[in-house]
Order: sequence, then structure tokens, then C-alpha cells
Amino acid sequence: MATIIAPSILSADFANLAADVKKVSDAGAEYLHLDIMDGSFVPEITIGAPVVKSLRKISDIVFDVHLMVEHPETQIKSFADAGANIITFHAEATKHANRLIQQIHELGCKAGVAINPGTSLSAIEELVEFADMALIMTVNPGYAGQKFIDSMCGKIHMLYHMIQEMEVECDIQVDGGINPETSVDVREAGANILVAGSAIFGSADIAQAIKDIRGTEIQHHHHHED
Ligand code: DX5
Ligand code: ZN
Repeated sequence: MATIIAPSILSADFANLAADVKKVSDAGAEYLHLDIMDGSFVPEITIGAPVVKSLRKISDIVFDVHLMVEHPETQIKSFADAGANIITFHAEATKHANRLIQQIHELGCKAGVAINPGTSLSAIEELVEFADMALIMTVNPGYAGQKFIDSMCGKIHMLYHMIQEMEVECDIQVDGGINPETSVDVREAGANILVAGSAIFGSADIAQAIKDIRGTEIQHHHHHED
């Protein structure tokens, strides 16, 4: 399974976003991860759909929008119209997650569902067959540069097996504290889309940082294959 790298612009220079987006896409990143925070679901406020819309004009890279907002159902249209390709909401932030996935699809986007470190996998067990991506937060959302929570590897591995058992297609994304070292653990556990903010934008050589986080391909052995 080829690993997809999604640099998070939370660690980019907000006064030079266009240049930073170009930097990471030229360096081989597949996705651009856009962290949307509302000051309520998480303490800080970042950017809204108008900024996403402006960035859409300067880049063709896949826009992976991570909504850390309450009432995500009220926001998905704005972000779809702004040019999002993937819209991820938090299972903790909405009552009708299944319907929300459906609505994101109707808007022409892929749908992701995220859970915080303190939320059990059972919150998304009924959703992975409908979602395109499940996001396992490996830090508590809200800030870049936090320490990776090691115990999340077990959760990622359980999710990987759950998806195999169900025989459905669902990418596993991880977000928070990902660097060349923690990348090995999450990829071994089964994650195939890796978000990284500070480890990429904080590096003097962005292309090398992306390469190091991507690592070498890991072979997973599925027990029900022969
Ligand atoms: C955390 C955000 C992340 C963050 C990751 O709340 O969702 O996307 O930017 O930053 P690093 O990679 O520095 O932990
Ligand atoms: Zn994020």
C-alpha cells in the first residue's frame, strides 16, 4: 500500500501560504491538509472557506479539509464550494454522522470521519463502510507540534483489522506528532495517509522530510489471504 503524505498548513507561514503550498506540492506531497478550527470544538480559530477558495486558484493538489468544528453539517457546503476534495468531520461533533457522510458525497467530495484520542473505535465502527477515510487523531486536536500518543498505534491496528474483516475500502489517516520515527509505527499499524505539520514545514529540506516520513513501503500480511 503506497503511503500518501498530507502536509498540514497549520505549520506553514500564513503570510506566505501560496508559496508554502507550492513548496510542498513541488516536493511530492499528494494531499494538502487544511486544518479548520472554530474556537469551540478546539480552542483556536484558524482559517475559513474564503482562504481555501483563494488557495484553490493557485494549486491543483488534493485539498484534504479537516474540520475541527462544532455542527460540521452547517459548514460542508461552503468548503465543497471552496474547492475541497476530501472533507473530514469529527464523530464527536455531530449527531447524524451517517447522513453527513451522505451529504458530503452529494456535494461531490470524499468523506472522512475523525476521532479524538479519547474516543473509542466503536464511534466509527458503523461508519467505515460508508466513509472514504477514517482519521485517527494521534494528538488531541488544536495545536501543531504536540507529542505523538504512542498508545494510538494499537487503535490504528484494530481499525486496520476491522476494515479487513469487513472487506470494505477505507483509508486510514493519522494526524498529530508524525515525523520520520513515528511514521514507521503508524505505517506498520496500518495507516496509509500521514498528516505532518511541524516535521515538514519545520524542516530546512522539505522534499527530504517528505521522503523520510514516507519511508519504505511496508508489506502487510492479511490473515485471510493465502
Ligand atoms: C492538530 C491538527 C494537525 C496539526 C499537526 O490539531 O489537526 O493537523 O497541524 O501538526 P503536527 O504534525 O506538528 O503534530
Ligand atoms: Zn489536522
